[in-house]
Amino acid sequence: MPERSDVHYFGAGPAPLPSAVLERASQALLNYKGQGVGICEISHRSADANEILADAKAALTSLLDIPEDYEILFLQGGGSGEFSAVVYNLVGVWVEKRRAQAEKDLSASTDAKGEALEQKIFERVQREVKEELRLDYLVTGSWSLKASQEASRLIGAEYVNVAVDSRKANNGKFGVIPSESDWKPTPGNKAAFTYFCDNETVDGVEFPQFPKSLEGADAPWVVADMSSNFISRKVDVSKYSVIFGGAQKNVGNAGITIVIVKKSLLPPASPQAAPELLRRLNLPIGPIVFDWPTIAKNNSLYNTLPIFDVWIAGQVMSDLVSTYGAKKIAGQGEISAEKANIIYGTLEQYPNVYKVVPDKTVRSRMNICFRVNGGDEEKEKTFLAGAQKIGLLGLKGHRSVGGIRASNYNAVSLDGAKKLVTYLETYATGA
Ligand SMILES: Cc1ncc(COP(=O)(O)O)c(C=O)c1O
Repeated sequence: MPERSDVHYFGAGPAPLPSAVLERASQALLNYKGQGVGICEISHRSADANEILADAKAALTSLLDIPEDYEILFLQGGGSGEFSAVVYNLVGVWVEKRRAQAEKDLSASTDAKGEALEQKIFERVQREVKEELRLDYLVTGSWSLKASQEASRLIGAEYVNVAVDSRKANNGKFGVIPSESDWKPTPGNKAAFTYFCDNETVDGVEFPQFPKSLEGADAPWVVADMSSNFISRKVDVSKYSVIFGGAQKNVGNAGITIVIVKKSLLPPASPQAAPELLRRLNLPIGPIVFDWPTIAKNNSLYNTLPIFDVWIAGQVMSDLVSTYGAKKIAGQGEISAEKANIIYGTLEQYPNVYKVVPDKTVRSRMNICFRVNGGDEEKEKTFLAGAQKIGLLGLKGHRSVGGIRASNYNAVSLDGAKKLVTYLETYATGA
C-alpha cells in the first residue's frame, strides 16, 4: 500500500493539498486550539470562526493585492452555483439601475404621479430589458459552455449572446481562443456583463492574459471563473467586477466557493431590483443563499458556513504568503510556469508519441492535456498503468474528452513535475 510520500497526484479537482496543511488539519479536527473540541464542531458564529474567516480574507487580500473596493465572499454551491448566482445578482443590479434611471428621467419629464408614474417606469424598464439586456459569454471550453447554458436556462436564450464559440474556429473542438477581433460582443460593447472562464479545466485552455477589448471604463462588467487557476499567477483584480472559484483545486477542499466582487456592485452603491419587479418582468429571482448582498452583509455567515473548509483555504493561502514574501502570488506564478514548461517541453520533444491537445498560444499552465500514440485508447491505458506503477496518479483525462491530463496545481511539487518528465521520457523512448 503506497504512502502519501510515495505518490505524486495530478488529479484535476479535488486535487492535492499540501501535506503540512493536512497534518495540521488532522490535529485541528480532533482538538482545535487546545479547547478539547474539534474545528468541525465549533460554531460558525464563534470568535474562533470569525478569526478563521478574517485570516483567510487577509491572506487572499495579501496574495492577490485585492484593492479595498472589493469584497470577499465565501459561499457553498461550488463553481456551478456561481454560474447561476452571477446571473441572478448582476441582472438584479442591472434592472435596478435602469429602474432608478427611468424614475429619475420620467419624474422630471412627465406630470405622471403615483401609480401612473410607476406604470410608465415599469413599461420603460420592460422595454429596455427586452431590447437591451444582454449577457455576453466567451465560450472557450466545457465550463464556460456550461455557464452560458445555465444563463440561458435561467433567463432565456434570447438574452444570452455567445460572443465567441471557439469550437467554430477549431473543427468543432475546444482548444483555441479566436483573436479578439473575431469576437461578436453585443453591439456597442453594451452587454450587462462579459463572462469568461480564465482556465478551462477539461480542455486545457487558459487565457494568456486579460482580454484587451474588456479593458476600460466603458467595458461591460467583467466576470471570470478562476476555479482552476485561482491563486496561480498575478492577476490585476481591478480589471474585474467579479472573480469566483471553487476551492477544490488550488485553494482547499471541496465545499466552499470564493467570490471577489467589486463593492460598487453591492448595496448601498448598487441595490438589487425588488423581487416584485423581477417577477413582473419574468426575470429570475435567486435563492437567498446565492444573494451576494445578503452574504456580504452577514460576513459570509448568513447560514452555516463550513468553517473547516475556510480554515483549510486560509492555511494554504497563509503558507503561500510566508513562502513567497514580497513576490506574493507572482512567486507561485514563477513555479507554476516552470513546472508547466518542463512538462510541455518534454511532450514537444517526442512529437511521434505525444500530441498536446490545445493550441500552443492558449495552453493551460494548470491542466496539461495531451494524447499518447495518436490517441490509441489501449496504449493510453498502458501509459496510465505505467505511471500508476511508479506513483504518478490522477493522470486520466476528463471522461468527456479522453486522453491524458496532468493537472499542475500549486500543491504539485517541482519534484513531482520532474518525476512526470522522467516518465514521459522513459515511455517515449521505451527505455
Ligand atoms: C473552471 C471550472 N469552473 C467550474 C467548475 C464547477 O465547479 P463545481 O464542481 O464546484 O460546481 C469546475 C469544476 O471542475 C471548473 O473546473
